[in-house]
Amino acid sequence: MIKNLLGLKETLKDDIIAILDDAEKLKRDVLLGGNKKSSLLGGKGVITLFYENSTRTRVSFEMASKYLGATSANMSSSGSSVAKGETLIDTVKTLEAMDTDVIIIRHSMSGAPHLVARHSDCHIVNAGDGMNEHPTQALLDFMTMREKKGNIKGLKVAIIGDIKHSRVARSNIYGLKKLGAEVALAGPATLLPKNLEEMGVSVYTDVDKAIEGADIVMGLRIQLERQKKGLFPSVKEYNKYFGVDKRRLSLAKPDAILMHPGPVNRGVELNPDIIDGSQSVINPQVTNGVCVRMAVLNMVANGKRYESKQEK
Ligand code: CP
Repeated sequence: MIKNLLGLKETLKDDIIAILDDAEKLKRDVLLGGNKKSSLLGGKGVITLFYENSTRTRVSFEMASKYLGATSANMSSSGSSVAKGETLIDTVKTLEAMDTDVIIIRHSMSGAPHLVARHSDCHIVNAGDGMNEHPTQALLDFMTMREKKGNIKGLKVAIIGDIKHSRVARSNIYGLKKLGAEVALAGPATLLPKNLEEMGVSVYTDVDKAIEGADIVMGLRIQLERQKKGLFPSVKEYNKYFGVDKRRLSLAKPDAILMHPGPVNRGVELNPDIIDGSQSVINPQVTNGVCVRMAVLNMVANGKRYESKQEK
C-alpha cells in the first residue's frame, strides 16, 4: 500500500492496478451511485497546494475529496504568503501544523513533491512537477484505456507532440511499460529528448509511422510559451507536420480512441473535427480523473483498498 504518490516510476505495477480497480468501483458506487457523499475520508483534512495554474487536476482533486467526505481547502502560490517569500518547506510545515492529512502539490520544479515528502509526515500526492511526472493524469488515462479497450497489455499507444517537456508523457511511459503496452512516440526532433529508447519505447519524427496500427492516439499540449525558444518554426507548420487530423487518425486501427490530457490548443496539436469526433474520449478522461483521485486519496489517507459494499 502506498503512503505517498510521487510518481509512477517508483509505483509498483500491483499498486497501479489496485488504484485502477478501486477507481472503477468508486465510479460505480460514488460518482454514478446517485448520492455523491461517502464517509471514506470523514475526519481527514486535504489541501491542494498549487504553484501553477490548473483546471482539471485541481478541481477534480477537490471534488474527489469532498465526495469522500474530507474537509478540504485550496491554496495557490499567488495570494498566499508564498508571494511574500515563504519557502516551499516552510509553507508545507505550516499546512502540516493545521493537522492536515494529505497535501496535493503541483510545482514547476521537478522533484518538488519528493522534497516535500522528505520534510513532512503528511501524505503527499504529486499533481504535476515540472517536466518530471503527472501520475494521476496517467492513471486516469489508463482507467479510460481499460474502459474502452478492456486490457492495457498488448495495446499500441502512440503519444504525439512535445515529449521533452511533458510530465504526462513520462508518467504514461513508466506506467504503460509496467502494464505491458507498446509505446510509440513522435514529435519534432527538438522536442524528443535523447535516450528515449532506453525506456523501451519506439521513437519517430514521422507522426504517420508512430500512429500506424495504434489502438490509442494521445496528443500532447504544445506549450506555446516554448515557441519563443525556436523549438519549432511556427504553430501553422507544427500543425501541418505534427498535428493529428482526420487523415492521420485514420492510420490507427478503425476502433482506435483519441486522447489528450487537456487543455487542448484547438487546431495546433489536434484538429477540431477529431477533438469533437466519435473517437475522442477527452471528456471521459476528465470524468475518470475524479475517480482515480478518489481511489488515490483513499489509498494514501486510509492505508487500504476501497471495499465496495456491493461486494460484501
Ligand atoms: N491535464 C491537466 O493537468 O490539466 P490541468 O492543467 O487543467 O490540471
